[in-house]
Amino acid sequence: MPDLLTLLDYLSDSQFHSGEDLALKLGISRTAVWKKVRKLNTLLPVPILSIQSKGYKMAEPISVLDKKAILTLLPPLIQKQVSQIDVLVECPSTNQYLLDCLEQDQSGNRIVFAEMQTHGRGRRGREWVSPFASNLYMSLLWQLDISIAEVAGLSLVVAISVAKAMQNLGVNDVMLKWPNDIYVHNQKLAGVLLELRGESNSPCQAVIGIGVNVNMPMKEGGKIDQQWVDMQQLLKKQLNRNEVAAMILNELIPRLQQFNFSGFTDFMAQWAQLDLLLNRVINIDGHMYLKHGIARGVDKNGALLVESDGKVQPLYSGEVSIRLNGPSKGY
Ligand code: BTN
Repeated sequence: MPDLLTLLDYLSDSQFHSGEDLALKLGISRTAVWKKVRKLNTLLPVPILSIQSKGYKMAEPISVLDKKAILTLLPPLIQKQVSQIDVLVECPSTNQYLLDCLEQDQSGNRIVFAEMQTHGRGRRGREWVSPFASNLYMSLLWQLDISIAEVAGLSLVVAISVAKAMQNLGVNDVMLKWPNDIYVHNQKLAGVLLELRGESNSPCQAVIGIGVNVNMPMKEGGKIDQQWVDMQQLLKKQLNRNEVAAMILNELIPRLQQFNFSGFTDFMAQWAQLDLLLNRVINIDGHMYLKHGIARGVDKNGALLVESDGKVQPLYSGEVSIRLNGPSKGY
């Protein structure tokens, strides 16, 4: 598999590369190169052309995830926070990969990216559609000094960081749907999946999974069961996924440190600026008795405040949707 990533790297410039040259660079036979090109062609959103006298050429240049390229975009102070970064060709789920590392007693803060996930996980048991070399699938294993009981609000902080990164990259109208969905014009651009490990009274570890639709192939996008959008549609240009990855880390890592130190309160104002639900009539799924209400922001633990029958109460979990045609009740 590492060969596949190296081959992809050579071809990503959309120039011709002869079979002989590639064979030499990879230390494999020309037949093996041909087989790998065939494999890449089943995975890639853009075809690799093969012309007898010239060799192989990717129809359009694509950006390949590259650890060195990401690292050069991270200031030393941020690099110092991370003990290991890995880029995988594929894995079932980057979150699962880090949870497995945790099982093996790995300490330190780690980051993993994958070009493709075969069982990408979304919230509430959903699948996260994760085709090859198209989007961003990344997870961070983060050591916190606080216990699971104190971690409420962390997933909102992650969503704020992703939203800020999107804004820095030129995406307009980014909004957050509680607790951690990143939306533009009511279409989902990115999502966060937080999985926690630890005892109730001791420091815990967070596996923070982030999926961003960067350039979702239409065919794969057809498998998504909700309205979605990708960065390329919004910005109308090709994106370098290493730059997107680094931008997210540069926004996220300082916020993780601040959250670890002083909790969610510091982030309430940032949330308020991005809150898609604020003063909207919402439906709630997965709560015993609270079925609808008006969203009134979040409290200092990141719980959604819901006004119902004249009372405002916190909602800690559940699936929230904006009621179609429901007015914005901004009084
Ligand atoms: C959601 O909005 O439903 C959450 C989506 C989270 C997807 C990311 S992709 C990287 C990481 N690995 C996974 O299996 N899921 C998260």
